[in-house]
Amino acid sequence: MRTHYCGEINSDQVGQEVAVAGWVHNRRDHGGVIFIDLRDREGLLQVVFDPDRPDIFADAERVRGEYVLAVKGLVRPRPEGTINPKLASGEVEVLASELEVLNPAETPPFHHDEHAHEDLRLRYRYLDLRRPEMAERLRLRHQVTRSLRAFLDDNGFVDVETPMLTRTTPEGARDYIVPSRTHPGQFFALPQSPQLFKQLLMMSGFDRYYQIARCFRDEDLRADRQPEFTQLDVETSFLNEDGVMQLMEALIRHVFKEVLHDELPDPFPRMGYAEAMERFGIDRPDLRIPLELVEVGDLMSGVEFKVFAGPAADPEGRVAALKLPGGAELTRKSIDEYTDFVGRYGAKGLAYIKVNKVADGRDGLQSPILKFLPDATVDGLIKRLGLVDGDLVFFGADKAKIVNDSLAALRVQLGKDQGLVATGWHPVWIVDFPMFDWDPQEKRWTALHHPFTAPSYDDAVELEAAPGNSLSRAYDIVLNGSEIGGGSIRIHREDIQAAVFRILGIGEEEAESKFGFLLRALRYGCPPHGGIAFGLDRIVMLMAGADSIRDVIAFPKTQSASCLLTEAPGPVADQQLRETGIRLRKPPGSS
Ligand code: AMO
Ligand code: AMP
Repeated sequence: MRTHYCGEINSDQVGQEVAVAGWVHNRRDHGGVIFIDLRDREGLLQVVFDPDRPDIFADAERVRGEYVLAVKGLVRPRPEGTINPKLASGEVEVLASELEVLNPAETPPFHHDEHAHEDLRLRYRYLDLRRPEMAERLRLRHQVTRSLRAFLDDNGFVDVETPMLTRTTPEGARDYIVPSRTHPGQFFALPQSPQLFKQLLMMSGFDRYYQIARCFRDEDLRADRQPEFTQLDVETSFLNEDGVMQLMEALIRHVFKEVLHDELPDPFPRMGYAEAMERFGIDRPDLRIPLELVEVGDLMSGVEFKVFAGPAADPEGRVAALKLPGGAELTRKSIDEYTDFVGRYGAKGLAYIKVNKVADGRDGLQSPILKFLPDATVDGLIKRLGLVDGDLVFFGADKAKIVNDSLAALRVQLGKDQGLVATGWHPVWIVDFPMFDWDPQEKRWTALHHPFTAPSYDDAVELEAAPGNSLSRAYDIVLNGSEIGGGSIRIHREDIQAAVFRILGIGEEEAESKFGFLLRALRYGCPPHGGIAFGLDRIVMLMAGADSIRDVIAFPKTQSASCLLTEAPGPVADQQLRETGIRLRKPPGSS
């Protein structure tokens, strides 16, 4: 049916008869001559229909957008002045000698170059994926997975599939559950990750495993979170954290180099969790933005201004400053907008100081809070923050979590608004996470990563005596402010695993019922092992320059976890409910 893809035709074929097939991208009637841009997966080709050929000309007149055509014709150079340098085929056109309409098309609900609402795009995803931009992204994704697989294959990794129908897995989100007809009243859970299976494969002796694995998590969705997403999941034996990190960053460098021809730093910088929180208020700092949080609590202790003095005296409080060079030019209105912005993260206000003329000391500063600050504090701020004329300093004072959340978000927003985001790739490993976090409301320890992460202490008694003192052997990888992967060295001894469960308040019975198979496996010769999982959707999103992982997934779900194309989830037949032993509490549709 065809000799070439449309997008492949160029000056090399001039003078040749070719056969092409594809979709009508555009049709233009130019005073008696009809031009059709024919599109296939490789690009566009201009086809010309001349009235000299009345038979096919009449057909060409009836053709509309998105009709599927087969065309034969002669490749010829475009006339002088009509060359389109934006198209690969832009120097040539095909003069049609045969036309077959393979299928007509209704008028599509949106045109390929209009900015259609995302709901419409998702409902008609097959049309949306015809847009060259979207097709390009999915092909980029394919190149990424191909490149990942090649690197892992060269490094001795074996691709092993793990079950989709399984038990609850430990990543901390809600499970998607699947009822069982053969075991009425019982349920499978879809895996939140292949975590436990990959550890079992290490116990089986595979040494190096990988899988491009689908994961399912019922959690609040965001632009970079889907209920069903893809991990590049990796596990290795007999490597420590340096070994895993070195190998995995080489993998990421390889993929960026091969697919985008971009060089990433070698090695990737590493930063401790505590340092990341202090300087950026977040454990996934966007290092493209040159703004940093600075601790000023000590300068504020005992000042008259209670908003600052309170958190400065509170062990769980924090007072931090964020300096914006040149920010003194911000209007009152934009400062008010930033105050509303931090309010969304729980901040009760956004104090600021404008630096007009630092040589004049206090008199050169402008701020509603200045009158509450003694000279020593003002001088201390000028020195510590290295203030110069034109600076603006924002302050956050509250519980540390609120200050961190709000100033971290403000830092990124200011970076974007002020055009301070550097170009290029800025990866960083975040290491030395605390092993456990104390939840003051529930009065219990929680795991910062999953409960199979090894603590830095390898003594169970010491660990249980002071859980808050232990770091974990986990590492996260952050690229341009996005957490693209995380992993750890795992616990490979049963006594430590049991101690961690106890610290987390997972009783022996619960541990046995949920993870008994893992605890048993640890007794039969478990090698030291560790690994990582990358968020493949996020990596491709960053590489594609897309704003949402939905734009790099062929058939994604909406923000409310539904599929507009297939209208899933949907009700099931009574028969199916009966067979699985389920009775609905309320009829579908009632609330
Ligand atoms: P973690 O839960 O950190 O680790 O997940 C690894 C990476 O997966 C990506 N990710 C997501 N991407 C899209 N939508 C989601 N809902 C979503 N949730 C996570 C992130 C994240 O860094 N088993 C461990 C890994 C290990 O320890 O080896 C795990 O799943 O980019
Ligand atoms: P007020 O005393 O509430 O009028 O606040 C004086 C200034 O401090 C205003 O600029 C507020 O935006 C700011 N402010 C109030 N609470 C906080 C806080 N928790 N952190 C930072 N700034 C605050």
